[in-house]
Amino acid sequence: MDMLKITGGTPLYGIVPISGSKNATLPAMCATLLTNEPVTLENVPWLSDTQFMGKILANLGTNCAKDMENADKYTYHTQVITNSVAPYDLVRQMRASYYVLGPLLARNGAATVSMPGGCVIGARPVDMHVDSLKQMGADINIQNGYIVANAEHGLHGAELNFKTPSVGATCNVLMAATLANGQTIINNAAREPEIVDLANMLNSMGAKVSGAGESVVQIEGVKKLTGTTHKIIADRIEAGSYAVAAAITRGKLELKNADAGTLGLPLDILHKSGVDIQSTQNTIVVDARGRELKGQDIITAGYPGFPTDLQAQFMALMTTAKGDSTITENIFENRLMHAPELMRMGAHIDKNTPNSAVVQGVEKLDGCIVTASDLRAGFALVLMGLAAQGDTFVRHLYHLERGYVDLVGKLSNVDAKISRVKEK
Ligand code: UD1
Repeated sequence: MDMLKITGGTPLYGIVPISGSKNATLPAMCATLLTNEPVTLENVPWLSDTQFMGKILANLGTNCAKDMENADKYTYHTQVITNSVAPYDLVRQMRASYYVLGPLLARNGAATVSMPGGCVIGARPVDMHVDSLKQMGADINIQNGYIVANAEHGLHGAELNFKTPSVGATCNVLMAATLANGQTIINNAAREPEIVDLANMLNSMGAKVSGAGESVVQIEGVKKLTGTTHKIIADRIEAGSYAVAAAITRGKLELKNADAGTLGLPLDILHKSGVDIQSTQNTIVVDARGRELKGQDIITAGYPGFPTDLQAQFMALMTTAKGDSTITENIFENRLMHAPELMRMGAHIDKNTPNSAVVQGVEKLDGCIVTASDLRAGFALVLMGLAAQGDTFVRHLYHLERGYVDLVGKLSNVDAKISRVKEK
């Protein structure tokens, strides 16, 4: 297995191009199932997760064609759904595969999707997905670990009250409701920019979605959706991660094709900690050269709150800032697992409660061998390695490949000393 070798201590300097959003692409790929016409997606990030979603779609009957001239452009065409089963072997490898449930049910009237199961950051149940589709007329049973859903006579609109603003449940219902009979209202919907992107794509296919990005979303069902060409938004989590890379190495990075508008709170916190941030319409410049950073408290919440997907990276940064920072994780019940790995590199972290920790900034971090427990925790370890003295080896590189396009190339271009090496 490969791991990353990072020799720390060099301030990063230069330009990092930000890729299309992984979390916007995954539902967008599934939304292509809603029509029998071709749908072209632009700005698709080439990642193991998006390649994997391609496999799931191909298994359902989608023809996926890569554009010859443009490496991040793909056309998906599902003339006929030839199979409505997403098996365990595929779903267990990527949770977001259950996004096919809503579109399959809406277009095909039937879907059998393996239950995704828990994951390392928490139990991550799918009760809201199932209950919502039931309220929209689907007959759903859990059999042998599978969600077996039927809606022979189609889905109908319903008013849904979400107990929590789930991103995945909002996406699934949004897609299912586009072809349902009548109006669907989601109260307490997730407000993430990826939801807005999905709604924009669906509307360009002829759907009638309004209110995306707000807590109440309304969808008027239509009879048919058509093909479209849609450009995926920039990856705000990738941009936020590289912003922290500039800050933790006390360097300066220009993040090209990034959208500062989707990173309000994380950029505010960086600014408060002492980093200079300048942004234009599609560029963010993060300058931490010669700065002494001050610790900041972080509390994760649904958008526009602080994203849980940047919590680990900011915890890494706070290990190098002066004073105490309290980090509170409110979205997932087990998402502070990176703390012990950070401590192996010299960080001072006290766990207050199961979901909060106090980070006390230290003068110096030391490189060592560390193991990534998930995608974002993996990037936090890369950040620690960039800031530490000596060599750091990050194991379980496959987590990082799920969500960071050309990580080694992008970091090497801005002076990082990073390479892939074989684990002995
Ligand atoms: C998505 C993102 C993930 C991000 C998360 C929160 C994708 C592919 N993944 O995951 O990167 O960390 O949003 O921003 O976009 N919940 C239930 N019942 C449900 C569904 C969710 O109780 O049926 C709970 C979860 O356990 C969790 C909370 O709701 O505590 C939020 O989860 P959710 O927003 O659904 O996360 P995902 O869509 O899985």
